[in-house]
Amino acid sequence: MITPRSLLVAFACFLLLGAASPATHAASPPAAPAPNDACLMCHADKDAKSAAGKSIGVDADRFKASVHGELQLKCTDCHAGLSPQKLPHADNVAPVNCATCHDKAAAEYAGTVHGVARKGGNTVAAACTDCHGTHDILRSKDPQSRTNHANVEATCAKCHGSDAIVAQAKLPGGNVASKFHDSIHGKALKGAAQGSAPTCSNCHGAHSIRPKSDEKSSVARAKIPDTCGSCHKPELAAFQNGRHGKLRQDGVVAGPGCTDCHSAHAIQQHTAANFQTEVIKECGTCHSDYLKTYRDTFHGQVTELGYARMATCASCHGAHDVRPASDPASKVSKENRLKTCQACHAGASANFASFDPHANRHDKARDPVYYYAALFMELLLFGVFAFFGVHTVLWLYRELAVKFGGGGRHGGPR
Ligand code: HEC
Ligand code: HEC
Ligand code: HEC
Ligand code: HEC
Ligand code: HEC
Ligand code: HEC
Ligand code: HEC
Ligand code: HEC
Ligand code: HEC
Ligand code: HEC
Ligand code: HEC
Repeated sequence: MITPRSLLVAFACFLLLGAASPATHAASPPAAPAPNDACLMCHADKDAKSAAGKSIGVDADRFKASVHGELQLKCTDCHAGLSPQKLPHADNVAPVNCATCHDKAAAEYAGTVHGVARKGGNTVAAACTDCHGTHDILRSKDPQSRTNHANVEATCAKCHGSDAIVAQAKLPGGNVASKFHDSIHGKALKGAAQGSAPTCSNCHGAHSIRPKSDEKSSVARAKIPDTCGSCHKPELAAFQNGRHGKLRQDGVVAGPGCTDCHSAHAIQQHTAANFQTEVIKECGTCHSDYLKTYRDTFHGQVTELGYARMATCASCHGAHDVRPASDPASKVSKENRLKTCQACHAGASANFASFDPHANRHDKARDPVYYYAALFMELLLFGVFAFFGVHTVLWLYRELAVKFGGGGRHGGPR
């Protein structure tokens, strides 16, 4: 076992040999001792441990291959306060401050959700080293780097994908990384679209991650369409032209944005049956009357059973460019309605298209014929049940009277 004491003995031998060498090799010029070697003398041993049992081993090769190793940084550039001339050093070593060289990154980080939480004493919130490492930091463009596009998901998932840490630190949103992993974006990151699919930092930033409640956040409610639209340009343009997009331009942020219909981390391919039927309910959270009348129709009853190859709200209204029926550009305007039905009902006539997909049997003003027809059917139903109900009660009465009253059946034999 390597203990602090055995390290000290080894270091003493190193110093003795170092002092003896110039005398024995007087001819060769004295090689400038690499300053890091003095530190590595004790720390290169991977099994070295501090008195508290914490590993103090440093992988010298990995350090040399790191961006800081390539730049030939000295151990003491980061471990300020220590010196190869003053060894052995004290047990208490000050923590490394990356900001001494990376003041820009450090200033950005200070304003992020992680930086603020750290400052407030939250020791779980990501610090520089949680995302970048310590002695093995690589440039982000290096495919092996923790912050390379391909590895960011795993880096964030150390916390946001660990059920234990999520529960312990009460991370907002729960295990978002596992949802993301199974989403269309998570899958695309492992396929041919790898380079263009978003990972956590595409939507959240890296040194600009803020809570969604912060209006400066890239995922603040008002900013979401632009964040998604940085890649999905045609959908953003259609959305902005539609009623929902216009609402937001008027400052009504309560109108739906991309994630209300698609979610943020569990986004599915739009053709998935599950998405097609769920998004109907989502439209219904705001347009409850229209959902109710839709459910009364053949289209709505079939989709309620989970069968998606049927007219959904978006089949008739469009998904992103939804407009009021009075707008001639609407898919359900007088001008376009027939064409919209014909997409599925190839032979549909103008008469067919006049069928009201939101007919409301409770609304006399909107649908008088439907209202009275429904009323008639309800009255008829009531009448039939009432008649047979009374009939059955009378019949029962008669049966009981016959059984217990001792009377014969109109004089017939028992
Ligand atoms: C004589 C052996 C020896 C030498 C040489 C040495 N160290 Fe250490 N170092 C130790 C020991 C032992 C500890 C653990 C102290 C303890 O028990 O807390 C330690 C602890 C540390 C720690 C803190 C680890 C932690 O988080 O608790 C750092 C950082 C460190 N050394 C850096 C250096 C640097 C940089 C140099 C070169 C300037 C260096 N050391 C030279 C033996 C050595
Ligand atoms: C780019 C800055 C940087 C350089 C250069 C650097 N270190 Fe560190 N080192 C760190 C950070 C960060 C930690 C984690 C502890 C902390 O945050 O203070 C650390 C931790 C350590 C520890 C404690 C064990 C551990 O891994 O947590 C030792 C020992 C250590 N360094 C030794 C060295 C030695 C020896 C060298 C030179 C070969 C060196 N360091 C070079 C940044 C650096
Ligand atoms: C939540 C994870 C996370 C934390 C915390 C974090 N970074 Fe980063 N950092 C990243 C990612 C991801 C990238 C790559 C960004 C990119 O490719 O756009 C990056 C890029 C960098 C870069 C290179 C790009 C640049 O801006 O010059 C430096 C330097 C850097 N970080 C330093 C730091 C320092 C110093 C800290 C602490 C003050 C820190 N980072 C905290 C994730 C993080
Ligand atoms: C003594 C100064 C110094 C310290 C301290 C230091 N670095 Fe660096 N770091 C550099 C230099 C210089 C570069 C190379 C910058 C360049 O080429 O653009 C660099 C590069 C980086 C890069 C790669 C940037 C890129 O272009 O992708 C990252 C990431 C990084 N450092 C993170 C850290 C972290 C995290 C810490 C603290 C643990 C730290 N550094 C401490 C000097 C330092
Ligand atoms: C496609 C864009 C996108 C990607 C990729 C993404 N997020 Fe998000 N994230 C969002 C949006 C937008 C929100 C805001 C909440 C909402 O609208 O539902 C959010 C919210 C969050 C929240 C807060 C959750 C809550 O409900 O309060 C966390 C934590 C989070 N994301 C972490 C991550 C992590 C970790 C990853 C990578 C594994 C990631 N995100 C990938 C867009 C994204
Ligand atoms: C070392 C653990 C750790 C890592 C790694 C980490 N986070 Fe976090 N994250 C936290 C903690 C803890 C919080 C909660 C801070 C608080 O209480 O405000 C948080 C909060 C967040 C929030 C704010 C959610 C909200 O709306 O309130 C987002 C977004 C987020 N992280 C995204 C990321 C992304 C993206 C990455 C990777 C680039 C990442 N995190 C890496 C620990 C981590
Ligand atoms: C009101 C709900 C709603 C909103 C808001 C919404 N979408 Fe959609 N989106 C849908 C529906 C429904 C579909 C499926 C359309 C279909 O079946 O043809 C869809 C399809 C998609 C597709 C698949 C390709 C396509 O165009 O059909 C992408 C990409 C997409 N949306 C991105 C976005 C983005 C980016 C935003 C924000 C700018 C957004 N969506 C806002 C409901 C919505
Ligand atoms: C960095 C670029 C990028 C960002 C940012 C982004 N996406 Fe995507 N998204 C993609 C790529 C690439 C695909 C294609 C994956 C595939 O087809 O394999 C995709 C696929 C989708 C799909 C499925 C498309 C289909 O054909 O059914 C939807 C829906 C979607 N994204 C919505 C969103 C939403 C909502 C946001 C914001 C919360 C968002 N995207 C942010 C790049 C991005
Ligand atoms: C978060 C709430 C919300 C969701 C979800 C939502 N909408 Fe809307 N929608 C609105 C609001 C608010 C208006 C504007 C109403 C107004 O102008 O009076 C609107 C307007 C419309 C209009 C134009 C009618 C008008 O009165 O201007 C249509 C059509 C429409 N939505 C269809 C849909 C469809 C289809 C979906 C699902 C794919 C959907 N909406 C999802 C809130 C929502
Ligand atoms: C079969 C096609 C069809 C389906 C499916 C459909 N609608 Fe409609 N919707 C229409 C037509 C046509 C109108 C115009 C009726 C009218 O003149 O009032 C309309 C009107 C509306 C309006 C009012 C528009 C305005 O300008 O006042 C809203 C909101 C709406 N629908 C939402 C929905 C929602 C939400 C769903 C799904 C739950 C849905 N629709 C399903 C065809 C459809
Ligand atoms: C996305 C495809 C789609 C669109 C768009 C669509 N329907 Fe349908 N609709 C169906 C399917 C599938 C059925 C099942 C019966 C069938 O195949 O005719 C159906 C059935 C019906 C029925 C009841 C059965 C029948 O044939 O009498 C009516 C009425 C109807 N649709 C009216 C309309 C009207 C009006 C429109 C345009 C405003 C419309 N639909 C748009 C797919 C669609």
